Amino acid sequence: MFPGMIEQQTAGAAPRGDVDRAELERRVRAIKWCHPIDLGGGLVTRPEWHVRQRFVRRLRFLSLPEDLTGKSVLDVGAWDGFFSFECERRGAARVVAIDTYAWDVHGKDGFLLAHSALGSKVESMRLAAEDLDPQVIGQFDLVLFLGVLYHLRSPIDVLDCLRGVTRGTLVCETHALVPALHGRYPLISFFPGDGHERGTRYEFTAIPTIECMKQMLAAAGFTQVDVRHRPSLAILKRLKALVLNRPQSGRLVVHAR
Ligand SMILES: C[S@@+](CC[C@H](N)C(=O)[O-])C[C@H]1O[C@@H](n2cnc3c(N)ncnc32)[C@H](O)[C@@H]1O
Repeated sequence: MFPGMIEQQTAGAAPRGDVDRAELERRVRAIKWCHPIDLGGGLVTRPEWHVRQRFVRRLRFLSLPEDLTGKSVLDVGAWDGFFSFECERRGAARVVAIDTYAWDVHGKDGFLLAHSALGSKVESMRLAAEDLDPQVIGQFDLVLFLGVLYHLRSPIDVLDCLRGVTRGTLVCETHALVPALHGRYPLISFFPGDGHERGTRYEFTAIPTIECMKQMLAAAGFTQVDVRHRPSLAILKRLKALVLNRPQSGRLVVHAR
């Protein structure tokens, strides 16, 4: 927590007072951030232009509703909470952020500091995607599953869990496999899971082809799957995969209901 400062502050507003501001800056600098969160008054947790631009681009590719007034949102693998706070800023009535690995290994300080500085009401709990249970956590209008699938040992089991807690739309962003050939087959690279990877190269985490992603979502019970963004430069990547004899990858965004 952050004693004496910013109880009900909204995103984009200036932090109150110079002392609080200086202390906030000190605390921000002491943390290794994943996300560029705008804490107000020109203070961004990762101010580098290219990082902020990357997240602007991601928000565009994700095509989240501009207005989330009254909606409930679950952010799976929230880390510092950039997308949780963004949904709250867009008017969501309830936002729940969950995570495991990043909070366990790198700490939750970034999330908690941003939460306090923004005067946020986002709820958070340490919970694995594998343990999501609608009887315990409820169901959500919007479920964000961004950059998590390729960390998983058993992606299909987690998609089953996500189906259970999704009342509206699941937004899944992941790396998609771009092999030289056979990209239309439901292929996925094997990954033993974070903490078990034993030197497995990052590019060989659990990465599905677009067809595999669609079929896994269908198998989990999502009846409508809408591909919103496909890997860019796919033809070049296929050629590169052919030359290097190694599949390539690119960003995939799907909305599933
Ligand atoms: C690449 S980061 C993505 C963070 C954020 N969602 C984003 O898109 O910027 C992956 C996140 O997923 C979390 N994660 C990995 N496996 C998880 C699991 N089984 N359950 C919940 N969170 C998980 C990690 O701890 C990390 O915060």
